[in-house]
Amino acid sequence: MISLLGATPVFVDIDAATFNIFPEKLETAIHQVVQAGKLTPKAIIPVDLFGLPCDYDRINKTASNHNLVVIEDAAQSFGAEYKGRMAGSLAHAGCTSFFPAKPLGCYGDGGAVLTDSNDLADTLKSIRIHGKGKELAGVTNDTPRP
Ligand SMILES: Cc1ncc(COP(=O)(O)O)c(C=O)c1O
Repeated sequence: MISLLGATPVFVDIDAATFNIFPEKLETAIHQVVQAGKLTPKAIIPVDLFGLPCDYDRINKTASNHNLVVIEDAAQSFGAEYKGRMAGSLAHAGCTSFFPAKPLGCYGDGGAVLTDSNDLADTLKSIRIHGKGKELAGVTNDTPRP
């Protein structure tokens, strides 16, 4: 998806104890990318693996130091908590999958984006119905068509 959008994914190694992104290596990767001067870091996508949220105190601090957006991949951590906050709410936006193998599965494929940003929520609702914008306010996938 990152490449399809014209961006370049830069992978960061994991902490062998948790299998989650290694915060120091994230810092190093950002510095290396900036130094190389070819790419402009935009976002961090930490994956909360096996029900264990990543170290969001450090990741969010790094993101704010570099003016980056954090998109939490909570597909394997739905229902988990990090310092009293639920997985999916630990970054600017959280994504989850409802594929049947996930902690909260549906019949078939499904997913959700979670955010407390009204602007992002409006954009996501628009994208959900082919970029309808505000023109079709109140119209959903279930609304009968003429
Ligand atoms: C951590 C994680 N993120 C994302 C996905 C992708 O989910 P989906 O197949 O619903 O797009 C998976 C599925 O295996 C996953 O384990």
